[in-house]
Amino acid sequence: MEMLGLYPVFYVPNYGSAWLMGLTGTIHILASHTSVGAGMLFAFLAHKAYKEDRADLYDYMKRYGMFLLIFSYVIGSITGPGIWYTATAASPRGISALIHNFVWVWATEWVFFIYEVIGVFALIYFINRIDRKTHLKLTYTFAIASVGTLALIIGIISFMMWPGTDGFYTTGSASDAFFGINTFPHMFLRLGFMIMMSGIIGMIISSAMRKENAALSKELTQKMGVVSLLGGFITLFFFMWYMGTLPTNAHTVLDLTINSILLNRIILAILFSLYFFVAIFRPQWITRTLAITMLFVIGIVGVWPGEKLRESMRKPWVAGQYIYSNNIIGRDVPGKGIKNEVPLLAEKGLLKVDPWVPERLRTITPENKLEVGKMLVVRACSNCHSLEKYGAYRPMMGLVNKIAQDEAGIKSYIKNVIGTGSSPYMPKIALPDEEYDAMAAWIATQAK
Ligand code: HEC
Repeated sequence: MEMLGLYPVFYVPNYGSAWLMGLTGTIHILASHTSVGAGMLFAFLAHKAYKEDRADLYDYMKRYGMFLLIFSYVIGSITGPGIWYTATAASPRGISALIHNFVWVWATEWVFFIYEVIGVFALIYFINRIDRKTHLKLTYTFAIASVGTLALIIGIISFMMWPGTDGFYTTGSASDAFFGINTFPHMFLRLGFMIMMSGIIGMIISSAMRKENAALSKELTQKMGVVSLLGGFITLFFFMWYMGTLPTNAHTVLDLTINSILLNRIILAILFSLYFFVAIFRPQWITRTLAITMLFVIGIVGVWPGEKLRESMRKPWVAGQYIYSNNIIGRDVPGKGIKNEVPLLAEKGLLKVDPWVPERLRTITPENKLEVGKMLVVRACSNCHSLEKYGAYRPMMGLVNKIAQDEAGIKSYIKNVIGTGSSPYMPKIALPDEEYDAMAAWIATQAK
C-alpha cells in the first residue's frame, strides 16, 4: 500500500500549535526587527558623529549596543531557531517545502547573520579604540549585513503566503519562488517597521540617560521620535501596497475579520503617532517607564494580532499554496515532481495511507469508531482548530454547534462543504464515507 510522507501530529491542547508559533514569533519579530532597524540607525548616528565630531553620540551608541546584545542577540537568537523548531513540529511538511525551495538562500542568510552578530560586538568594542573613520565603515557594513538578512529571509516568508507567480509551479525554480509579487511590498513594509522599532527602543535608552546628560537625552528622544514616525509612515504606506498583492483566499479571510482588525490598526496608529509627537515636541514627558510600556504595547497589541492575521490569511495553505495547513498536499507542482494527494485520500482514506495510524485502528469497528474518529479529526482539522470546547484557537465544537444539530448534520457539513473544497479557508478534505461517519460520531460526542 502506498503511504503518504506524513509526520506525527504535534497537538497542543486548548491553544493549538499555531499559538505557540505566534508567541515565539511575536517575541522574535520584536527582537529581530529591532536589530536590523538598529543596524540602519547606527549607520546614521555614526555618520553624524563622525561628520559633526560628536563624541557624545558614541556614548549613546554604546549603551544602545549593550541593550541590543541582550534584547536582540540573546532573545532574538533563542527565539529564531525556536520559531523554526515550533514551526517544524506544527507543520513539518510546510517547513520541508521551504527547505526544498530555499536551502541555499537560508545558508546565505546565515552568513549575513554571522557577520551581523560579530559586527555588533565589534561595533561596540571598537568605539574609541579605532579611528572614527574605520569605525564608520564598520557601521556601514553592519547595516548592509543586517538589511541583507531581511532581504533574504523575506522571499522565504513571502512564499509561505503564495509564490506570487504561476511560473513557479511549472519551473519549480528558486527564483520564481523567491520573487513573488508580494516579496517587495512585504520587504519595505518590514523595513519601515524595523526603523520604527529602532526608534521605540532608542527612546528607552535616551530616556534612561536623563540624569547624566539631560540635554543629550532630550535631543536623542526627539530624534528617536522622528525616526519612529518616519518608520511608521513607511510601514503604513507599504502595508497598503502589500494588501493589494495578496491572493484571493487571503482577501476572503480578511473580509471576515476586517472590522475588528481595522479598528485595532486605526487605534494603534493614532496612539503611536501621538506617542511619537510627544517625543518630538515634549521629550521630557517620555520617561523610561513609559518607553518600556510602549514596547510591550506594540508587541501585545500590534505584532501579536498582526501575526495572527498573517497566519489566518494564508488559510487553507501553510506554504506555497500547495501544502495545506493540515500537511496534506493539495495541488500538483510539476516543477518539483509533487503530486496532489487529495484524490488518493478520497479513494483510499486517511486510515490506509497515513503511516502513523496504529494497525488496530486501520479498520473501523463499532468498538474503535470513536477512537478512530478522534484520531482523524486531530489529523485533518487540529492544525486550525482547538478541539476542546472552550479552546482558545477557533474552537471547533463551538463552530460546529452553530451549523449542525446532530451527528448526521455534522457529517453532511464535513462531507458536502469541507469534502468538496467549497470552503474558501478550509482544505478540501475528501474521504471515504465511513471515515466521515467516524469523525462526525466523535465530534457529536464532544460538541454536546
Ligand atoms: C486550514 C485550516 C483549517 C482546517 C484544516 C480546518 N478548518 Fe474549519 N475553519 C477554518 C477557518 C479559518 C474557519 C473560519 C473560522 C471563523 O469564522 O472564525 C473555519 C470554520 C469552521 C466551521 C464553521 C463553519 C464555517 O464554514 O465557517 C466548522 C464547522 C469547521 N471549521 C469544521 C472543521 C472540521 C470538521 C475540520 C476538519 C475536517 C476543519 N474545520 C478543518 C480553518 C480550518
